[in-house]
This record gives sequence, C-alpha cells and structure tokens, in this order.
Amino acid sequence: MRWIHAAGRGLLVLVVVMTGYITSGVNADEGAGSGRGPLTLATAGDLTGYLGSVLEGWNRTHPDEKVTLVELPDSADETRAQMITDLRDGDDGGGRFDMLNIDVSWTSEFAAHGWIRPLPRDRFPLGTFLPPVVDTATYDGRLYAVPYVTNAGLLLYRADILAKEGVDPPRTWAELEKQAKTLAPEHGLDGYAGQFLPYEGLTVNAAEAVYSAGGSILGDEGERVTVNSTAAREGIEFLSRGVREGWIPKRALTYKEEESKQAFQDGRLLFLRNWPYAYVGASAEGSPVAGKIGAVPLPGPDGPGTSVLGGSNLAVSTHARHPDSAARLIAYLTSERVQRQVFTRGALPPVRADLYEDPELVREFPYLPTLRESVLTAAPRPKSPRYDQVSLVVQAVVHDAMTGRETPEAAVRRLARELAAISSR
Ligand code: GLC
Repeated sequence: MRWIHAAGRGLLVLVVVMTGYITSGVNADEGAGSGRGPLTLATAGDLTGYLGSVLEGWNRTHPDEKVTLVELPDSADETRAQMITDLRDGDDGGGRFDMLNIDVSWTSEFAAHGWIRPLPRDRFPLGTFLPPVVDTATYDGRLYAVPYVTNAGLLLYRADILAKEGVDPPRTWAELEKQAKTLAPEHGLDGYAGQFLPYEGLTVNAAEAVYSAGGSILGDEGERVTVNSTAAREGIEFLSRGVREGWIPKRALTYKEEESKQAFQDGRLLFLRNWPYAYVGASAEGSPVAGKIGAVPLPGPDGPGTSVLGGSNLAVSTHARHPDSAARLIAYLTSERVQRQVFTRGALPPVRADLYEDPELVREFPYLPTLRESVLTAAPRPKSPRYDQVSLVVQAVVHDAMTGRETPEAAVRRLARELAAISSR
C-alpha cells in the first residue's frame, strides 16, 4: 500500500527551450477587455520559492508586459483579507492587484462581489485540465478564473520506523490511532498532526474528517445545511479524541502547513497530513528524514478516506489595468511548459491532465498516477458566495471541540445552528 516510495529525491529542474511557446487567442475578448502593459500578480506565500523564476521567463520575453509578483502571507485567511482590501480599494479608484492567484474555495465569493471579471472560456486550454479543477473556477455558469494548481491531502509517515516495527502504513483511523498511540512514544515522537490552527487549513482538515466518515457540511451549493449527522460527529470526534488521548500533540493546535511540515521534517512526528509539497520538501537533500518517509492516501473509518480538493485559480481583477496582458499571462502560466515547472520546481500538482501520464515525469516521480487518483477523488469545499463565513464557523467550532471546550455532539449542533444562520441571511 506504500505508493510513494521512501526514496529521497531532489527536484528535477528541467532545462526548457524558450521557443515553442505560443500564446493562444490573444485578441481582446468578452470580459477580458483589451489593453496590454505591465501587471501585478498577488499570491499567497510561495512556500517552495519557485514562482519568481517562472515569471522571469515571461518577463524576459514580454518586456512591455512585465509582471511584478506581490507575495502575501502563508496563511490562506490573511491572504484573502489582504486581497479583498485591495480589491475594495480598486472600487474607490485605488488597488494595486491586476491579477490574483486565489484559493479554489474563493472563486464564488470573489465573483459574487464583482471583484473579478468573467473570462472567455475559449481563450484557455480548459479541455486539457483534470475535470474537477474546472468546476472550482466557475460561478453561476460562467468562468471567473482559470485553474492553475490543484492539490490533494496525503498521509506522510516515517517508513523507517514502521518497517522496524514490521507494520504497514495505516489505511484506517483505528490503525492510525493505534500506531500513533503506541509506536510514536516508543520512538520519542509525537503521533499525528495536520493543520489545526483556526484558519482555512483547519476547515480543510475538519472537512476531510467529516467527508471520510461519510458526512457532509452543506448541500445544494451552500443553500442547505447537512452537517447534523452521525457521520459528521464521528469525524469531529476522531480529531477531538486525538488531542484528548494525546496522540495528537497539543502543539499541533497551532500548526499551519509550514509548522506541521517542519515538525515532520525535523523528525518529531510519526504521521502528518499535508499537501504533496511537504513530501517533496521532506525528501529533499539535507532533510533529516530524507529517504525515511512514505505517503499513502488519507485513512478513513473503514478504509481510505476522502481528501479535500485544494489548489488555486488565476483571476483578473475587475479593475485590472491591462486585462489583455492578464489573459495572455494566464495562458502562459497554464501552458504545458510552465505547468511542468510548477510541478518540478514548485512541487505543486499541475492542473494539466497529460502531465500525470508523462513517462519522463512518472519515472522521476513514481507517485504521480496516485496523486492524480487522489485529486480525481477529492471532494470540493462548499461552493458558497459566503464561503468565508462558513469557513470561519467551521474553524471556530472544530477548534473548540479539539481543545475540549465542547463535546463533538454539542459541536455538531452548534455548527448546524450557526451555518443555518449564514444560509438564511
Ligand atoms: C493549500 C491548498 C488550498 C487550501 C490551503 C489551506 O494552499 O491548496 O486550497 O485552502 O492549503 O491552508
């Protein structure tokens, strides 16, 4: 069941030929408007530090349409808040961001507020993308962004320790709990961590626990509250029990992606839920656990669980100064060549479907086909124009349950109540 082998590997940096890239459909078009010139692109923290070099490729060949990267904080919530402040300034004639690399879960909200503009479908290679990612870029039947990066959660584990103990990596919550509870302390490690600080990462981890148990949070595009179920309670109980019983360390309640990755990479954790970039980082040369780790799909109550679909989409601000250049840059960033770099340099899962079957890449990264499977089976977050409020409620309530301030039963009841209040507003 170990599908990512415990081999350490550095990132393959491909030498690419600068020719051969042809922008498609660069004419002014509905929604994309016209106008060429310099751009700013705002993004959440570039955790693998690759984006600058990708954009340099564009800037070298497009001297009149240079893009300036504005890197915002690592935390999805802080990035979202800063983007919104800027987009609102745009409504008053200010605003610095022409383009935004937005989380997949924000498309509906940004579109519903009119902060980002609809884009013409035929200008972008949507047919070449993995099918679930395109849906995250649409709202009300229109395309409001173009998928750029996708993501699915994995369970990373210390393959060296499990091999020493003669056990397979866990497929179920019971196996995960048992190993985290018994083996981790014997080896002086913490058991299990994910991203449990109250922010978008906790919403993701909570949704994965609920979905894995067979539950849901909202139905009908955010219109119906479905969280009041035994399955949702079981999911929240799994996370709460971990902290109560100590196989989730208390310090994990302060972890975002980077802190949790660091704990695993420093050799302090037996199991970690994180995105594939953490596997690549922990396997890289110089990492204390390089060559000692593996990754499997997230476990669930009776077998593999369900990951949340992560990733980001490229959107164009309503007030973009040069929308035609913005559309051209999006076409560049979603071209096959750049999507390859997103993966090999940025350790981020590309949206282009054919790369997952590229023989050269599969040879170098044997886990690609399974990563594809994880993305294809991942479940999206609720598509709601009030997604920000939905996420805030989930984070607050689940954090209270994990810190023992509220029982899982009470937490599910409160979730149902507070989510219903948001839907009825
Ligand atoms: C990653 C995912 C994104 C998610 C975020 C949560 O960046 O790609 O979709 O919202 O993590 O922290």
